Amino acid sequence: MDVSPPFSLPRTVALVGLMGAGKSAIGKRLAARLDLPFVDADDEIEHAAGCTIDEFFEKYGEADFRAGERRVIARLLDEPPHVLSTGGGAYMDVETRALMRAKALTVWLRADLDVLYDRVRRRTHRPLLRQGDPKEILGRLMTQRYPIYAEADIVVDSTAQPADRTTEQVIDALRAHLHLQSSGTPA
Ligand code: S3P
Repeated sequence: MDVSPPFSLPRTVALVGLMGAGKSAIGKRLAARLDLPFVDADDEIEHAAGCTIDEFFEKYGEADFRAGERRVIARLLDEPPHVLSTGGGAYMDVETRALMRAKALTVWLRADLDVLYDRVRRRTHRPLLRQGDPKEILGRLMTQRYPIYAEADIVVDSTAQPADRTTEQVIDALRAHLHLQSSGTPA
């Protein structure tokens, strides 16, 4: 079996999308397939802050969290190519979005409300989802964020199918995108 990476990436692949879109699950698999490091921006923020995101929101509030997120992602984007999973709000920040678009290939993992809700409903660590009814909050965030996520270079639907299958779809989409860029004409 050929286990070599399907192609080499000129820049970091940054995954964007709502909570529950599968950014970490797909990101880890994608990194393994491309033989690149996997970096989770939320983990890096927790490491830099010395506390969980939940505690950070509690102590300092969302505005300070966004500022920390901006700094951490800016640093990560200066590192050699890797697969970067970003928190759901990161791409909504004007500065972070501009940096991601300049320095990474951005992939939006688009999921519908039932898929998102099914993946987040048993977990309690996300501060934004504890501010009311989680399904309603996710629906509201979809309305606010999906038009912005749509600015990503690549869009892949994240469905209830196995994560390995979605990962292969991301690889196919990356290949098509890179081919399009290098040839200047559609594949
Ligand atoms: C957030 C998403 C979370 C985390 C924080 C805020 C958001 O990351 O960054 O709780 O604004 O959507 P995940 O999308 O990885 O859950």
